[in-house]
Amino acid sequence: NTPRLIDPFARTISYLRLSVTDRCDFRCVYCMAENMTFLPKKDLLTLEELDRMCSAFISLGIEKLRITGGEPLVRRGIMTFFNAMSRHLESGALKELTLTTNGSQLARFATDLHAAGVRRINVSLDTLDAEKFARVTRWGRLDQVLKGIEAARNAGLRVKINTVALKGFNEDELFALTDWCAREDMDLTFIEVMPMGDLGEEQDRIGQYWSLEDLRAQLEDRFTLTDLSESTGGPARYVRVAETGQKIGMITPLSHNFCSSCNRVRMNCTGELYMCLGQEDNMSLRDILRAHPDDDAPLHAAIRRAIGQKPEEHSFDYSDDQIAGQMSRHMSHTGG
Ligand code: GTP
Ligand code: 5AD
Ligand code: SF4
Repeated sequence: NTPRLIDPFARTISYLRLSVTDRCDFRCVYCMAENMTFLPKKDLLTLEELDRMCSAFISLGIEKLRITGGEPLVRRGIMTFFNAMSRHLESGALKELTLTTNGSQLARFATDLHAAGVRRINVSLDTLDAEKFARVTRWGRLDQVLKGIEAARNAGLRVKINTVALKGFNEDELFALTDWCAREDMDLTFIEVMPMGDLGEEQDRIGQYWSLEDLRAQLEDRFTLTDLSESTGGPARYVRVAETGQKIGMITPLSHNFCSSCNRVRMNCTGELYMCLGQEDNMSLRDILRAHPDDDAPLHAAIRRAIGQKPEEHSFDYSDDQIAGQMSRHMSHTGG
């Protein structure tokens, strides 16, 4: 039995988030600049290399694998990769295979994802108004995403909605969103906007920031909320809404730091391992993988070395109307 991955702060790392592409068919205004430059295709790990990389992590104790992007479903051949990962679910080494998606391609992929063993997915959706949806994504179509969500549910996938709380944008939809999720029996998580990546001239991070403490107070004007102590090991804190029975999650890296229970690392599509979303430190595993095509031992050793460098916490901060800890990379680079 190999020892599990334990970091310097005694946290067990059992969750890998893998970004399979930094590309996306949308350009959400808080996520990307309109004229983003993407990584050259030649730098990407192939689907076979992604398989080998993930398999190495799984053999070291990763039990949960979340596929992200950019938009993971725009990566060519991505179902081949999901199908390959099924074997780790079947062997019991992997407990959960899941993805975070913008929903645009779900109508096409839902059935295949379920067949590959995916059971829960997270869909990003910031508004239920078609015109606002087109504005925030810069050109996305809400009806396409809603159809994707419906297809996913019909295929047997449980859907959680992720909504980035955006000041002056979706504040007025707080109850429309919560009501919709209650009616449709979907969990809902709100996320504070994080200072990742340059957005171009016209976007203003501080202006976008809507604290979830404030959002929670607004919910409490109408609902009775009780804190749930359960944690998925993730950053979300959950509340139960007495009136509807629904569960609402809140991801608050700015107003409430949750790093002490962090269980995850992230890899981007070129094989760089990021030990924290809110830090630039990373270790590239691509060359080690390629230098030893028939021997995983050097890769395993490198993964352990990287975990040994996981920092204690992120450095995001919005204080005194200043942004500290701004990351130069975008969320789409490491997949949130
Ligand atoms: P589950 O707990 O498995 O449902 O997943 P999740 O909520 O962690 O996954 P999801 O991809 O839906 O994450 C939602 C968002 O939470 C991400 O896109 C990030 O914005 C944020 N997030 C996830 N993990 C971290 C983390 O470790 N640190 C910070 N600061 N934000 C995180
Ligand atoms: N801050 C917070 N959330 C972000 N996302 C993308 N960029 C940011 C940001 N700067 C969200 C997306 C999606 C998830 C993967 O990350 O809306 O829900
Ligand atoms: Fe694409 Fe998601 Fe970023 Fe929007 S938030 S541009 S859907 S990666």
